[in-house]
Amino acid sequence: MRARSDPDAYERYLRGMDASMRQKVALTAAHVLCEGVVADMGCGSGACSDALAALYPELEVVGVDADPEMVARARAAYARDNLTFEVGDIARPIFDDGSLEAIFDSSVLHHVTSFGGYRHQAAGDAMAVQAAALRVGGVLIVRDFVAPESQPVTLEVPADDGEETDDPRRASTAALLERFAREARSLHERPGIACERVADARPGWRRYALDLRAAAEFVLRKDYRADWEAEVQEEYTYFTQAEFEAHMAAIGLRVLASTPIRNPWIIRNRVRGKVVLSDAHGRELEPPATNILVAAEKVGRQRIYRVVPSGLRSLQAEIDRFWTDELDLLVADAHELNQRRNRPAGSGEDR
Ligand SMILES: C[S@@+](CC[C@H](N)C(=O)[O-])C[C@H]1O[C@@H](n2cnc3c(N)ncnc32)[C@H](O)[C@@H]1O
Repeated sequence: MRARSDPDAYERYLRGMDASMRQKVALTAAHVLCEGVVADMGCGSGACSDALAALYPELEVVGVDADPEMVARARAAYARDNLTFEVGDIARPIFDDGSLEAIFDSSVLHHVTSFGGYRHQAAGDAMAVQAAALRVGGVLIVRDFVAPESQPVTLEVPADDGEETDDPRRASTAALLERFAREARSLHERPGIACERVADARPGWRRYALDLRAAAEFVLRKDYRADWEAEVQEEYTYFTQAEFEAHMAAIGLRVLASTPIRNPWIIRNRVRGKVVLSDAHGRELEPPATNILVAAEKVGRQRIYRVVPSGLRSLQAEIDRFWTDELDLLVADAHELNQRRNRPAGSGEDR
């Protein structure tokens, strides 16, 4: 969690966050039943909590934020009988086990990872803590940035749309990318990303070779210049879509929906025609997803059979960590299963 420097910084930040609030509420509401307790984790301004409480009067909505200033602002701005706000850290238990109908994590898990030493597993750990608070059948809804699968790409950006300066407010996009390459994840002991200038850019532009994940990090933040120093502290992406789904499965959640989102306003106004992303063969790539929505339901006590390929030992460790007490879990790797299949029927071992 990062407290902001002054009231203006809070205002600017919350205006940006609330710009897409209708989309956030619509995406969440689709997965929430109309009764029970719902926690809006990292609620920021409280606008989303308030909208959910207004849409569903039978719901009890609790907005939670680690920043006491956010909670004070939310309380001052929104009041309803079925709405409360409280200070809390979503990485730690806040609600009784099994007490929640739904949890909404909107743009908050990347704060948990970024301000937790850029440790991606911190997002998985926080989801596990939250899953414990869900009742069986309850839903965890995550809307956040999503990491593209790594691949080498080139990113072409204008060098003539600003100045050749380090000042993020006046810098050209190319100068800003060069600054970003030095300071990305600025709280890390070794900040920066691998990014090399290469030839063959169109006139007035520069071309850089980097990984798609780093390119997405830059493309999605290049327009947040007013609070640039704060923005570069954050690493937006931590899990790919497949990693979100695997982590949820590992903590006993069944994925109901998993959808990368390309916010049309952002793509139209900040990406198309403003940057060109190409793969290693020079083919132009689609803009990176601006967000993902993953909704997953807590499943009950049951017998689970999983095949864990030998390359996924870390997933195996997750499953062991979170499920062994709860579930009668049989994990077999593909080799073991094949051996079992090949055993003659009726052998003593099968009984
Ligand atoms: C990017 S804003 C998102 C606000 C809102 N959920 C939205 O989507 O517009 C992130 C919010 O999460 C809060 N936050 C960051 N880390 C947190 C944590 N560990 N526990 C609870 N809230 C946290 C921040 O204070 C901030 O208000």
